[in-house]
Formats: sequence, structure tokens, C-alpha cells
Amino acid sequence: MKIYPKEVKAKIFLHRRISSDYFRLQLACPEIGRLARPGQFLMLRVNELQDPFLRRPFSFSRIFPPREKKRNPMDEGGVEICYQTVGRGTLLMTRLQEGQRLDLLGPLGNGFWPEEGCTRVILVGGGIGVPPLLTWAQELKKKRPGKKKFTRAPEMTFLIGGKDKEKILGVGECRRWGIEAQVATEDGSLGAKGVVTDLLEKELMTGRHEATAIYACGPNPMLARVAQVTDQFDLPCQVSLESRMACGVGACLGCTVKFREGVPPGENQEGQSAPERANSFAAAEGEERTTREGVIPVISEAPPFRYARVCKEGPVFDARKIFWD
Ligand SMILES: Cc1cc2nc3c(=O)[nH]c(=O)nc-3n(C[C@H](O)[C@H](O)[C@H](O)COP(=O)(O)OP(=O)(O)OC[C@H]3O[C@@H](n4cnc5c(N)ncnc54)[C@H](O)[C@@H]3O)c2cc1C
Ligand code: FES
Repeated sequence: MKIYPKEVKAKIFLHRRISSDYFRLQLACPEIGRLARPGQFLMLRVNELQDPFLRRPFSFSRIFPPREKKRNPMDEGGVEICYQTVGRGTLLMTRLQEGQRLDLLGPLGNGFWPEEGCTRVILVGGGIGVPPLLTWAQELKKKRPGKKKFTRAPEMTFLIGGKDKEKILGVGECRRWGIEAQVATEDGSLGAKGVVTDLLEKELMTGRHEATAIYACGPNPMLARVAQVTDQFDLPCQVSLESRMACGVGACLGCTVKFREGVPPGENQEGQSAPERANSFAAAEGEERTTREGVIPVISEAPPFRYARVCKEGPVFDARKIFWD
């Protein structure tokens, strides 16, 4: 069944600072809470003015589907996002007041999916990339015998990284949910000194890694390294990509990444230079193009990638299908 994103005016139920520049925002919006899946996201207009003009994308850190018994306002249905202040839009968001209404569009994109046959899961989160993985961990814990793909909840390890201890989220949730958590900080103020991908390498070198799936969310350089490490161990790995977004619905092509699969012949040849492109068309017509300098060699092969829209086909992708250049 095709699900269409909803444009709603959500009421802010809770807005809290959770560390120096991280905030939690709970939004009452049954229409989105009913449909949202871990790994999907929403686009949020930071204020009623047209400045900043574009909505900003944020992943769900919690999903509250509508409940029959309504004990608190979020039982009506809603979602939570956690955000970090990085620029003008997110700085303006810090002024949002509980009770105020916000313009949202969601749920958008495709979220995480269970990897068939995997009995162990390693979650790798960097900074503000941790909360979206927490909601996926919660979903995985729900899997019961008889449900598709995972016949029982997989064994989970959560690797959490950040610049310093202020940037470490999710340890409390892991403890409460019985998930093993390992922490790395770049300055060594909490856990191991180093980056979270060091923890991943160590875990895969020393621990069991058969039937293991990796899920990662964080800055793109971290994801590229996770993809490299998991590829060495030939393990399935899903990554939630960040990309600058304008429309969020697949219309502007502003969020594309190079993707390794299914380049239809004659389409998406943006990777070629203008003469190459001209020659491809010429080759398709069975002719050679000439210039003042002579014959241009005919290049008929499509590039080994196409462009995928992160907002529409992602943001969660199979890491092996992304060109990490
Ligand atoms: C699918 C998706 C989910 C996201 N989920 C979250 C989330 O859960 N929590 C969160 O804090 N952030 C999330 N982001 C990133 C968030 O959208 C940006 O940080 C935000 O839009 C920045 O807006 P701004 O106006 O504050 O920054 P701007 O003033 O627009 O930019 C400030 C700086 O941030 C960088 N930046 C802006 N947008 C992005 C982006 N999309 N990716 C990487 N760098 C960016 C710019 O290059 C610039 O250096 C997500 C992005 C995507 C695409
Ligand atoms: S943001 Fe417009 S196509 Fe993805």
C-alpha cells in the first residue's frame, strides 16, 4: 500500500535541552505517528515566516502510534525528534515553545529493514545519529516468534560515539532495555578514547560476527568508514545518509547520491562529460561524431552508477550500493 506523507500542524508537547547543543522535541501528530517507521524522517518548517524558506529534515527518535487507552497526550499519536544546533534553522528551533504549533511534512523516505537470517545486530551511532537507531532497536526488540524475518529478537550491541561525553546519547536507554552499549569519545572523556568505528573494528575482529547485520547513523565520513569495515567482513550493512534537502519528496534532485544499482541504458548519464554524453547518444544511433580535431572515440557504456534521491529512495540504503567518493 502506498503511503502518502501528511502535511500537518503539530502541537509541541515537549521541548527540552538534553545537552549543550542537543534538544528533544515531542510533537503531537496522530497522522504521522500512525504511519511512521524507524529510519524515516519528517521535514519541519522552523517558523511561520518564509525565512528560512526551506523545511529542515529530521529523523524520528521515537514514534508514538495512537493508543486506545489515552493516559497522556502523546497516546493520541505523535513523534519525537532530537536535533543538534548547527546553523540558523536549528538555532531558531531552540526558541520553539511547548504548546506552539509547527508545520510538518511526513513520514518521508524509507527506513531500516530487518536483514533475513541475522541473529545479531550491531548498531553504530555517532552523536545525534544515535536517537534514530534507538527507535530501530526498540522495534527489533518487539520481534516475536512467528513474525516475519527475525524469528526472535536479535542479540544487540550498540556502539555509541561522540566528540566528548556531552555528545553521548542513548546509554541509559540501552541499560534499561538490556542492550550492551560500548562508548567511544574522541577526547577520552567517556569510554574508550577514539572514534566509534574503532569500536566496530575491534568488535568484528574479536567477537562473533556470523549472521550479524550492521545499522549505522551519523555523519557521512563515519558512515563511509562503517561501510568499508563491514565490507571487509562481508556483512550486511544499512546506513542512514545525510544530504542537504530542499523539497524532501523527490522533486528537486537536490539530495542525490551515486548509487551502484540499475542504471537503465541511456538514462542518468550525468556522470559523463558533454562529449561523452553526445557520443553515447551517437553510439545508440550507430554513428560516430566528428569534430575539427577528428573522430571522438565512441563511449557507449553507461557509468556504473545512477543518481538516487536520498529523500525518496533512502535515507536508509544498503551501504554496499553507495559510491563513497
Ligand atoms: C534524512 C535526514 C535526517 C536528519 N536527521 C537529523 C536528526 O535527527 N537530528 C539532527 O540534528 N539533524 C538531522 N539531520 C541534519 C539536519 O537536517 C541539518 O542539521 C539541518 O537541516 C541544519 O539546518 P540549519 O538551518 O541549522 O543549518 P544550515 O544553516 O542550513 O547549515 C549549517 C551547517 O550544517 C550543515 N548541514 C545542513 N544540513 C545538513 C544536512 N542535511 N546534512 C549534513 N550537514 C548539513 C551545512 O553544510 C552547514 O555546514 C538530518 C538530515 C537528513 C537529510
Ligand atoms: S530533497 Fe528534493 S529530491 Fe530529495
